[in-house]
Amino acid sequence: IQLLYVGLSLPVLTILLATDGETAETQTRMRGENITVECKFNFSENPILFCKENCEGENILINTTENRADNGRYSTLYDSNYTSASLHVSISDLKRSDSGRYRCGLGKNRTRYHEFHLDVTEGEFLS
Ligand SMILES: *[C@@H]1O[C@H](CO)[C@@H](O)[C@H](O)[C@H]1NC(C)=O
Ligand SMILES: *[C@@H]1O[C@H](CO)[C@@H](O)[C@H](O)[C@H]1NC(C)=O
Ligand SMILES: *[C@@H]1O[C@H](CO)[C@@H](O)[C@H](O)[C@H]1NC(C)=O
Ligand SMILES: *[C@@H]1O[C@H](CO)[C@@H](O)[C@H](O)[C@H]1NC(C)=O
Ligand SMILES: *[C@@H]1O[C@H](CO)[C@@H](O)[C@H](O)[C@H]1NC(C)=O
Repeated sequence: IQLLYVGLSLPVLTILLATDGETAETQTRMRGENITVECKFNFSENPILFCKENCEGENILINTTENRADNGRYSTLYDSNYTSASLHVSISDLKRSDSGRYRCGLGKNRTRYHEFHLDVTEGEFLS
């Protein structure tokens, strides 16, 4: 275990700890860009939820039963067939403050939500 930790950078360690050992995807984008992440499920349930951090109050970005939903810079697109369901969650015109932990899910059981981390960088070229 000691040897493993030596090779890991601090951000990687933080991610591993934050998810109890499950690897959560980290997405890096530049300020002003858009991002779309696909969350896949093998079941279909309502509501469709897209949320940030603690997933409460204003951090509930989208809570819908519609296949397409928009809320300002946030949007969701849901598609499913007999074997699987796919939920695309998007944020447009990214800001530095959009950095953080996001979850996308179907239904009320949060243990089945998917999680990803977003890191929005300043996007200036160093030359
Ligand atoms: C859905 O996937 C989970 C884990 O990936 C599995 O445990 C479960 O049995 C699957 N359910 C169905 C209905 O296929
Ligand atoms: C989503 O909306 C439904 C219906 O308005 C509500 O019952 C539910 O509590 C909401 N979920 C969250 C996480 O706020
Ligand atoms: C529909 O089912 C196929 C496999 O049968 C799968 O590859 C595909 O991703 C599914 N599409 C959606 C939108 O879930
Ligand atoms: C980002 O999303 C906005 C709103 O959905 C769209 O108007 C714009 O063309 C997108 N920009 C890029 C680079 O895809
Ligand atoms: C939520 O989902 C998990 C994993 O599928 C399951 O073990 C748990 O019993 C579920 N909880 C509820 C309240 O349905």
